[in-house]
Amino acid sequence: MINCQGCHLPDGSGNPERQVPAFPGQLGKFLWVPGGREYLVQVPGSALSGLSDDGLAGVLNWMLETFSPNELPADFKPYTGAELHEWRQSPPVDVGGVRQGLLDRIEQQEAQKRTGI
Ligand code: HEC
Repeated sequence: MINCQGCHLPDGSGNPERQVPAFPGQLGKFLWVPGGREYLVQVPGSALSGLSDDGLAGVLNWMLETFSPNELPADFKPYTGAELHEWRQSPPVDVGGVRQGLLDRIEQQEAQKRTGI
Protein backbone atom coordinates (compact mmCIF):
# COMPACT_ATOMS: atom_id res chain seq x y z
CA MET A 1 0.00 0.00 0.00
CA ILE A 2 2.68 2.47 1.02
CA ASN A 3 5.20 1.53 -1.65
CA CYS A 4 3.13 1.01 -4.73
CA GLN A 5 -0.35 2.49 -4.53
CA GLY A 6 0.76 6.05 -5.10
CA CYS A 7 1.33 5.21 -8.73
CA HIS A 8 -0.61 1.99 -9.27
CA LEU A 9 -3.75 2.89 -7.25
CA PRO A 10 -5.58 0.50 -4.89
CA ASP A 11 -7.40 -1.27 -7.73
CA GLY A 12 -4.25 -1.63 -9.84
CA SER A 13 -5.69 0.53 -12.61
CA GLY A 14 -2.59 2.74 -12.67
CA ASN A 15 -2.48 5.94 -14.64
CA PRO A 16 -2.02 5.20 -18.34
CA GLU A 17 -1.75 8.91 -19.11
CA ARG A 18 1.36 9.03 -16.93
CA GLN A 19 2.68 5.76 -18.37
CA VAL A 20 1.70 3.75 -15.28
CA PRO A 21 0.23 0.56 -16.75
CA ALA A 22 -2.99 -1.08 -15.57
CA PHE A 23 -2.62 -4.52 -13.95
CA PRO A 24 -6.10 -6.06 -14.20
CA GLY A 25 -6.39 -8.62 -16.97
CA GLN A 26 -2.81 -7.99 -18.02
CA LEU A 27 -0.23 -8.68 -15.34
CA GLY A 28 -0.35 -12.47 -15.54
CA LYS A 29 0.29 -12.41 -19.28
CA PHE A 30 3.90 -11.44 -18.64
CA LEU A 31 4.39 -14.95 -17.25
CA TRP A 32 3.51 -16.44 -20.65
CA VAL A 33 6.71 -15.31 -22.34
CA PRO A 34 10.44 -15.80 -21.69
CA GLY A 35 11.84 -12.99 -19.56
CA GLY A 36 8.46 -11.90 -18.24
CA ARG A 37 8.88 -13.48 -14.84
CA GLU A 38 12.15 -11.60 -14.38
CA TYR A 39 10.68 -8.40 -15.77
CA LEU A 40 8.01 -8.10 -13.07
CA VAL A 41 10.83 -8.19 -10.50
CA GLN A 42 13.28 -5.98 -12.38
CA VAL A 43 10.92 -3.14 -13.25
CA PRO A 44 12.14 -0.22 -11.13
CA GLY A 45 8.95 0.04 -9.05
CA SER A 46 9.59 -3.52 -7.84
CA ALA A 47 13.38 -3.82 -7.85
CA LEU A 48 14.13 -0.48 -6.22
CA SER A 49 11.34 -0.58 -3.66
CA GLY A 50 12.39 -0.74 -0.05
CA LEU A 51 10.73 -4.13 0.31
CA SER A 52 12.74 -7.14 1.44
CA ASP A 53 13.13 -9.98 -1.06
CA ASP A 54 10.45 -12.00 0.70
CA GLY A 55 8.24 -8.93 0.96
CA LEU A 56 8.53 -8.21 -2.74
CA ALA A 57 7.81 -11.85 -3.60
CA GLY A 58 4.69 -11.67 -1.44
CA VAL A 59 3.47 -8.44 -3.04
CA LEU A 60 4.02 -9.75 -6.58
CA ASN A 61 2.21 -13.01 -5.80
CA TRP A 62 -0.65 -11.07 -4.26
CA MET A 63 -0.84 -8.69 -7.24
CA LEU A 64 -0.92 -11.54 -9.74
CA GLU A 65 -3.57 -13.47 -7.84
CA THR A 66 -5.67 -10.38 -7.12
CA PHE A 67 -5.54 -8.47 -10.39
CA SER A 68 -4.91 -11.15 -12.97
CA PRO A 69 -6.07 -14.60 -11.79
CA ASN A 70 -7.55 -15.50 -15.18
CA GLU A 71 -4.29 -14.91 -17.03
CA LEU A 72 -2.06 -16.91 -14.68
CA PRO A 73 -0.47 -19.92 -16.39
CA ALA A 74 -1.78 -23.25 -15.12
CA ASP A 75 1.71 -24.11 -13.87
CA PHE A 76 2.21 -20.78 -12.07
CA LYS A 77 4.64 -21.11 -9.19
CA PRO A 78 4.59 -18.27 -6.67
CA TYR A 79 7.69 -16.11 -6.47
CA THR A 80 10.09 -16.71 -3.61
CA GLY A 81 12.46 -14.18 -2.11
CA ALA A 82 15.47 -16.38 -2.87
CA GLU A 83 14.46 -16.62 -6.53
CA LEU A 84 14.19 -12.90 -7.10
CA HIS A 85 17.19 -11.76 -5.06
CA GLU A 86 19.60 -11.82 -8.03
CA TRP A 87 17.13 -10.49 -10.57
CA ARG A 88 16.40 -7.33 -8.67
CA GLN A 89 20.11 -6.38 -8.59
CA SER A 90 19.99 -5.68 -12.31
CA PRO A 91 17.05 -3.59 -13.47
CA PRO A 92 17.12 -3.17 -17.26
CA VAL A 93 18.50 0.12 -18.55
CA ASP A 94 15.79 0.39 -21.18
CA VAL A 95 12.70 -0.62 -19.23
CA GLY A 96 10.32 0.66 -21.88
CA GLY A 97 12.10 -1.32 -24.58
CA VAL A 98 12.09 -4.54 -22.57
CA ARG A 99 8.41 -4.04 -21.75
CA GLN A 100 7.52 -3.45 -25.39
CA GLY A 101 9.42 -6.56 -26.46
CA LEU A 102 7.47 -8.65 -23.96
CA LEU A 103 4.16 -7.11 -25.02
CA ASP A 104 4.95 -7.93 -28.65
CA ARG A 105 5.60 -11.56 -27.75
CA ILE A 106 2.42 -11.70 -25.66
CA GLU A 107 0.48 -10.36 -28.61
CA GLN A 108 1.97 -13.03 -30.88
CA GLN A 109 0.85 -15.70 -28.42
CA GLU A 110 -2.65 -14.27 -28.26
CA ALA A 111 -2.85 -14.24 -32.04
CA GLN A 112 -1.71 -17.87 -32.13
CA LYS A 113 -4.37 -18.82 -29.58
CA ARG A 114 -7.06 -17.10 -31.62
CA THR A 115 -6.12 -18.78 -34.85
CA GLY A 116 -5.26 -22.07 -33.19
CA ILE A 117 -1.94 -22.34 -35.02
C1 HEC B 1 6.67 6.28 -9.07
C2 HEC B 1 5.58 5.47 -9.59
C3 HEC B 1 5.60 3.98 -9.30
C4 HEC B 1 5.69 3.34 -8.09
C5 HEC B 1 5.79 3.95 -6.71
C6 HEC B 1 5.63 1.93 -8.36
N1 HEC B 1 5.52 1.71 -9.71
FE1 HEC B 1 5.34 -0.07 -10.65
N2 HEC B 1 5.34 0.83 -12.45
C7 HEC B 1 5.44 2.20 -12.66
C8 HEC B 1 5.61 2.45 -14.08
C9 HEC B 1 5.75 3.82 -14.73
C10 HEC B 1 5.61 1.19 -14.72
C11 HEC B 1 5.81 0.90 -16.22
C12 HEC B 1 7.21 0.40 -16.48
C13 HEC B 1 8.21 1.47 -16.24
O1 HEC B 1 8.31 2.39 -17.05
O2 HEC B 1 8.88 1.42 -15.20
C14 HEC B 1 5.42 0.20 -13.67
C15 HEC B 1 5.36 -1.15 -13.90
C16 HEC B 1 5.25 -2.10 -12.92
C17 HEC B 1 5.14 -3.53 -13.15
C18 HEC B 1 5.14 -4.20 -14.50
C19 HEC B 1 3.75 -4.15 -15.11
C20 HEC B 1 3.73 -3.71 -16.54
O3 HEC B 1 2.64 -3.74 -17.14
O4 HEC B 1 4.77 -3.32 -17.09
C21 HEC B 1 5.11 -4.12 -11.93
C22 HEC B 1 5.02 -5.62 -11.65
C23 HEC B 1 5.19 -3.09 -10.95
N3 HEC B 1 5.26 -1.87 -11.57
C24 HEC B 1 5.20 -3.33 -9.59
C25 HEC B 1 5.35 -2.35 -8.63
C26 HEC B 1 5.43 -2.63 -7.22
C27 HEC B 1 5.38 -4.02 -6.61
C28 HEC B 1 5.57 -1.44 -6.60
C29 HEC B 1 5.72 -1.19 -5.12
C30 HEC B 1 6.71 -1.98 -4.42
C31 HEC B 1 5.56 -0.41 -7.62
N4 HEC B 1 5.44 -1.00 -8.85
C32 HEC B 1 5.68 0.94 -7.39
C33 HEC B 1 5.40 3.16 -11.69
C34 HEC B 1 5.51 2.94 -10.33
